[in-house]
Amino acid sequence: MNVMNKTFLPISAILLITAVSYSDCSSSKKITSNTSASSLKETFKKYFLIGTALNSSQIEEKDPKAAELILQQFNTATPENIMKAEIIHPEWDRYNFDLADKLVAYGKKHGISINAHTLIWHSQLPRFVREMKDADSVKQYFSNHIKTVAGRYNGKVLSWDVVNEALNEDGTMRKSVFLDYLGENFVTEAFRLTQQAAPQTELYYNDYNIEQPGKRAGCIALIKKIQAAAVRIDGVGIQGHWHLGKMPLKEIEESILAYSALGIKVMFTELDIEVLPRDFSGADVSQRMKSDPSLNPYINGLPDSVQQQLANDYEALFRLFLKYKDKVSRVTFWGVNDGQSWLNGWPVPGRTNYPLLFDREFKPKPAYYKVMALAGNNL
Ligand code: XIL
Repeated sequence: MNVMNKTFLPISAILLITAVSYSDCSSSKKITSNTSASSLKETFKKYFLIGTALNSSQIEEKDPKAAELILQQFNTATPENIMKAEIIHPEWDRYNFDLADKLVAYGKKHGISINAHTLIWHSQLPRFVREMKDADSVKQYFSNHIKTVAGRYNGKVLSWDVVNEALNEDGTMRKSVFLDYLGENFVTEAFRLTQQAAPQTELYYNDYNIEQPGKRAGCIALIKKIQAAAVRIDGVGIQGHWHLGKMPLKEIEESILAYSALGIKVMFTELDIEVLPRDFSGADVSQRMKSDPSLNPYINGLPDSVQQQLANDYEALFRLFLKYKDKVSRVTFWGVNDGQSWLNGWPVPGRTNYPLLFDREFKPKPAYYKVMALAGNNL
């Protein structure tokens, strides 16, 4: 199956071609391997931040190859898991700030801004919250959690995903412990409390599929409700867990315009492109599929046609991001390389997936070069 090398030119050759085409535009824009000018963060610096999700071993810089690539390519990061409630607040009166503090120090040391993720989410909650059976406890947890966690990192992180995934596909509010016990106003309240605890931090709402018209309408109504209560919301994060050959470009374009018309930043916060079979869209982490060999077709490598389609999809997406570079403030990939992507384990365990711009050896994929060339032509 591994026919990549037969059709795709070796990396060095691609770099050379890219360098030549760049030098056509401007001699100062030459691309060479392993220089900062050849990185995503440098190339897109004038337009938007370029981020990655970081897992705990990356935060602790345990893997030298990952550590090098992160510093070379990205200028902002989102913790993949370590600031979620189940990790940072495991028991009623116990917090665990170890890794979050390390992340903040790491960001400071390397000039990487941190988007903290996430204060209020129905998933990855500690057991004591999942088992709550009365409104008073939920209310107290909600307020303690926000005050303590957002307060600690005020002025130390750039932003918070204050609320994550509060909406259903039809734009109504998703069932959760927060909706059940606090009512629909919990989203506005979360922003109000975070604003108080972390006045120097930008506040975002984050969700998947909110580029789709029905969910988008619900999201716009939610944002307007926050604004009508005179509570601050600075941005919206469209997660961007999309599928090969099915990029919702029209919906994304409409969404960039609709959300920015609300006077807030628009970000793509968890970008990856699923290349494996899946019978649903979006990123509802509770949805699972049973493992089956037919769902894991590329264990020995990605066929050229799929690799090319992936590159084309990323190119089309970034063309759109660049068209609206005045409105898009950040693009964050959900992971550093293919081997570390959560899509190897969700919604089917143990698959070999290829959703990102860097392969398992940390090498740039054809999609990387397409995206970089696009930006070059825009410079
Ligand atoms: C995912 C992580 O990547 C996994 O490691 C974890 O097991 C489950 O959560 N939407 C979000 C992210 O907002 O926090 C999720 O991250 C992916 C979907």
